[in-house]
Amino acid sequence: MADTTTNPEKTTHFGFLTVPEKEKAKWVRRHFDSIAYKYDYMNTLLSLGVHYQWKRIAVGMMGLEPGRKVLDVCGGTGDLSRLAAEAVAPSGRVFLYDINWEMMAAGRPKTSALTCGDNVGYVQGDAEKICFPDETFDGAMVGFGIRNLTHFEKGFAEMYRVLKPGGVFMCLEFSEPVTPWFRALYDFYSFYLMPYIGRALADCGPAYCYLPESIRLFPGPDKLKAILENIGFSDVKYRRLTNGIAVVHVGKKGNPVK
Ligand SMILES: C[S@@+](CC[C@H](N)C(=O)[O-])C[C@H]1O[C@@H](n2cnc3c(N)ncnc32)[C@H](O)[C@@H]1O
Repeated sequence: MADTTTNPEKTTHFGFLTVPEKEKAKWVRRHFDSIAYKYDYMNTLLSLGVHYQWKRIAVGMMGLEPGRKVLDVCGGTGDLSRLAAEAVAPSGRVFLYDINWEMMAAGRPKTSALTCGDNVGYVQGDAEKICFPDETFDGAMVGFGIRNLTHFEKGFAEMYRVLKPGGVFMCLEFSEPVTPWFRALYDFYSFYLMPYIGRALADCGPAYCYLPESIRLFPGPDKLKAILENIGFSDVKYRRLTNGIAVVHVGKKGNPVK
């Protein structure tokens, strides 16, 4: 009989698959390697371009001002970084932080094309162990990335740590529509059509099965708000976008030191 007390291998989820916890980062890396150069195009196709509007609203909710220093965690191909760079220009800085070099490389030409593109720096690293000192940033944001972490609370706690007191936090993440008929339609679209389109157009069916599965396993807006407050964020608010397909949470790190 297997001795489970001496083999307490922890497991976690990769979509609806159960995988050893220590292997999840490898699965996630493989997933984003496989879609890096198709990521922007598939995002635009599958969301009918709405993701750009969500990102603009989300960065707008941060109220960034020129001169601020911002961290884009799980920044990928850099849509949020580019919006933040424009908001903090001309003297502000944005650091795009991602574990996957391919994703950053795929988005680099779009960032270079910005007049303020030189103000965006790229750092490769794990969001669960952010390689910046405490209280470095005026803003920290994560878009459609936190769901991929093995321990997403660690990622949020790290964002809290690197924010200056009074710094602003933002998380944009997928969720579920609130209206029942729309949710049923969305479920059909995301579980059946999305993997089909992913297979047909990007040769990545499994990658687009992972997406809806990982969304269903992520906490809903109220639970996420409570998790953020528990980490220490204050003034946490959220806004549902497109009937709740995506949700933006914003909050602050304590009060500014006078
Ligand atoms: C769905 S993409 C989001 C990209 C971008 N933020 C956007 O909104 O389009 C998720 C990103 O999270 C990154 N990622 C996954 N796990 C990570 C980790 N542990 N640390 C840092 N980045 C991670 C992936 O490499 C990928 O680029």
